[in-house]
Amino acid sequence: MPPASAQRATAVPNDLEAYWIPFTPNRAFKAAPRLIARAKDMHYYTPEGRAVLDGTAGMWCTNAGHNRDPIVAAIQAEAAELDYAPAFQFSHPKAFELASRVAALAPGDLDHVFFCNSGSEAVDTALKIALAYHNVRGEAARTRLIGRERGYHGVGFGGISVGGMVNNRKLFGALLAGVDHLPTTYNREHQAFSRGEPDWGAHLADELERIVTLHDASTIAAVIVEPMAGSTGVLPAPKGYLPRLRAICDKHGILLIFDEVITAYGRLGHAFAAERYGVVPDMITFAKGITSGSVPMGGVLVRKGIYDAFMRGPMHVAELFHGYTYSAHPLACAAGLATLDLYREENLFERARKLEPVWAEAAMSLKGLPNVLDIRCVGLTAGIDIASRPGEVGKRAYDAMDQAFHEYDLVIRAAGETLILTPPLIMSERDIDEMFAKTARVIKAVA
Ligand SMILES: Cc1ncc(COP(=O)(O)O)c(C=O)c1O
Repeated sequence: MPPASAQRATAVPNDLEAYWIPFTPNRAFKAAPRLIARAKDMHYYTPEGRAVLDGTAGMWCTNAGHNRDPIVAAIQAEAAELDYAPAFQFSHPKAFELASRVAALAPGDLDHVFFCNSGSEAVDTALKIALAYHNVRGEAARTRLIGRERGYHGVGFGGISVGGMVNNRKLFGALLAGVDHLPTTYNREHQAFSRGEPDWGAHLADELERIVTLHDASTIAAVIVEPMAGSTGVLPAPKGYLPRLRAICDKHGILLIFDEVITAYGRLGHAFAAERYGVVPDMITFAKGITSGSVPMGGVLVRKGIYDAFMRGPMHVAELFHGYTYSAHPLACAAGLATLDLYREENLFERARKLEPVWAEAAMSLKGLPNVLDIRCVGLTAGIDIASRPGEVGKRAYDAMDQAFHEYDLVIRAAGETLILTPPLIMSERDIDEMFAKTARVIKAVA
């Protein structure tokens, strides 16, 4: 249970108008705000002090739970020690320390880290590195980028170009030129109610061969996929799909990028999902869990050969003309180091692996409730598809998310007509029971 000390009131401004809330129906929110004032471990507290169970680890990011003391202390100490150091031409010790720690966790020769501040920046950084890599090696014709239908890679122009969620793309013009898409790996007819990676669908990786035949390998720079497509509604990779994609990329000299903004740092029971699937991509993007959501940070892990390809030319000239004012910000690095310590000390990745069967069993117990069309889960994630109300796509899931917060003291997420749960990795089995019992009540309430 949440501590009683957390139940204090916080003042709320009278006027909510000025703030344009991202990816949110603003008018509905401002009519009945879902406000969170404080957090600790598995719980949020509303401004009135009501405890709400966090079923989504913030937005797939507070993997170590909320406001953990060692992370808070590290951020406070760093704020007093070094507020900022220039990210270009200068640096600070914790940036190097964190890069080494991240590289040590990564599989294979993924051993260099480029830091940025978000998943979107990580994706655009990885795409730019892919293009530049081929360029510096004399293969400048390799400019095409291949994403996947239903993929989510953030909101930069690169990310929405390779992304495959139509609402994120349709209002924003022609996007990047020369982008193509693999088909989605999801097929309800063949995969409904699969636990973990579905048996059906490895062959969909072969669509990359068709794309290569269409454009020729000499024009293709990179393929980017999420090992588990999260934001679109939890679509685990079919068994064998990712190794097959790796083999086709190798055959044609195409770089393979895993977007692990969600899947890194324990969500699928490993430091990186690449480890779960036994595949070493050429780059991994990460964000969110690196600081357990406490300070914005993202990054790109690259294989040694990619970094080395750039290390040429005059010693006084930058090898890559790319970076952000806040790349490797001191507060983010301090938070990242404390977070990685906590993951290790509390064995949180292993804990996620151990909880996975219990979690999957609880998620699948919702099968048979009204309107439930499919349930998917892998690692500590669950996506529950529910049927739309006639003529109101997305409304039933939105109502479920809203009622869960206001009436059942639970945060879940709605993506289209999918309810998503992705809890902090510190949750107990009692928390799992509570989460799914409440989710079941909500699903019945919106039937
Ligand atoms: C796979 C993936 N890539 C990129 C992003 C974008 O991250 P951010 O919102 O930090 O820019 C997300 C966010 O959920 C994501 O899930």
